[in-house]
Amino acid sequence: MTVPPDQVLAALRWRYATKQFDASREIPADVWDALEESLVLTPSSFGLQPWKFLVVQDPTIRAELMAESWNQTQVTHASHFVVLTARTDLSAADIDAWIARMSEVQGQGAAATAPLKGMIEGFAETMSREARHAWNVRQVYIALGQLMTAAALLGIDSCPMEGLSASGYDRILRLEKTGYATVVACALGYRSATDKYAEIAKARFERAKVIQHV
Ligand SMILES: Cc1cc2nc3c(=O)[nH]c(=O)nc-3n(C[C@H](O)[C@H](O)[C@H](O)COP(=O)(O)O)c2cc1C
Repeated sequence: MTVPPDQVLAALRWRYATKQFDASREIPADVWDALEESLVLTPSSFGLQPWKFLVVQDPTIRAELMAESWNQTQVTHASHFVVLTARTDLSAADIDAWIARMSEVQGQGAAATAPLKGMIEGFAETMSREARHAWNVRQVYIALGQLMTAAALLGIDSCPMEGLSASGYDRILRLEKTGYATVVACALGYRSATDKYAEIAKARFERAKVIQHV
């Protein structure tokens, strides 16, 4: 399947970081299902998927999260709200779980997966726990980008959100001691007709400043 370039660019230009959502509109179930699948399909280094995505629909919890998000109303007004978390480490058990899943899906035996397993283990061992966490966090941002792009192509508005207290989120979502920690959030839904940010010209550097042909 190919989407014409002008349609892709139209969707990317239509997308903006939505400040005001229309609280009365809800993303239909089939569209939401596709957005969740876009998270599942996100690529990651070695395929490790060191993350968990929390879809927070409980209004009480959303209100608590808003208080930890500079009171940004996107948290409570958007149709759906996703908290993207990263594994705080990458353990031998994590690597084993991924290799087992690959073997199951791709029908490979232990002999076939051993080289990859050894390579990942070797790579992980060279890093400190903090470095492994930071590596996982980088993967989570790929999921955020994929989610927002998929949303734009589906005509769904979004707001990526780093303006939050990650430790406050971890407390409210009871993430402490789970091995996962909040990285970033994303509100998704429909822009309010009164959101003036929708009309502001998209400000980006000139292409020549950011793209260099070598
Ligand atoms: C990782 C990340 C975190 C962001 N956090 C917030 C946020 O907490 N609140 C907000 O209103 N916008 C947030 N933004 C939106 C940016 O300010 C916005 O994407 C940028 O100014 C470019 O504008 P545009 O997305 O409308 O094209 C964030 C964007 C990114 C990529």
